[in-house]
Amino acid sequence: PLDTTIPDPALIVLIGAAGSGKSTWARTWPSTQVLELDQFRAMVSDCAGDQSATLAAATVLHTALEARLARKKTTVIDATNTEAHVRAGLLDIARSYGVPAVAFLVSTPADVCVARQTGRSPARAVPEDVVRRQHAETIAAFPHLRAEGFAHVVLADRVHRLELLLRRAGD
Ligand code: GTP
Ligand code: MG
Repeated sequence: PLDTTIPDPALIVLIGAAGSGKSTWARTWPSTQVLELDQFRAMVSDCAGDQSATLAAATVLHTALEARLARKKTTVIDATNTEAHVRAGLLDIARSYGVPAVAFLVSTPADVCVARQTGRSPARAVPEDVVRRQHAETIAAFPHLRAEGFAHVVLADRVHRLELLLRRAGD
């Protein structure tokens, strides 16, 4: 059975295609706990959708993550994280601070993710082929996440959203 336990502190790595709903899920955590890659792209380039700023943005995000995990602060990474090498970089940081990592899969159907791109500004809309590749990577990653080093693998669902919202209301 799936273990939906999220320890505290934890590094929570959201995994899902563009438009899957990661940022919507991220809002169930206190905003100071969420590191959103788009915001770091905007921070370094004035443009959240500037893909050429990804490396610089990820470097600053990693620095912020280290500062938080050094203080044992639960942190949510809001980025697609569909590529294993990207997850490996995050897992390395969590391991070095002794904080367990949780994979939080947002596996919304590819057609839904694609349809959600249509209303977006050209700067934020992700091309259909990229969205479908990210979705396929999400599904393919699922059986390997424990072996990658995630202590828990959680599938985003309605019950879980309720649990998270109740937990936050109780803070
Ligand atoms: P990127 O930042 O591009 O990677 O996308 P994302 O995964 O962060 O998706 P986001 O949370 O921005 O959600 C995309 C759109 O789907 C938004 O318009 C949300 O309001 C909508 N959405 C997210 N979750 C749900 C849901 O559970 N139901 C419905 N109906 N819409 C949702
Ligand atoms: Mg988002």
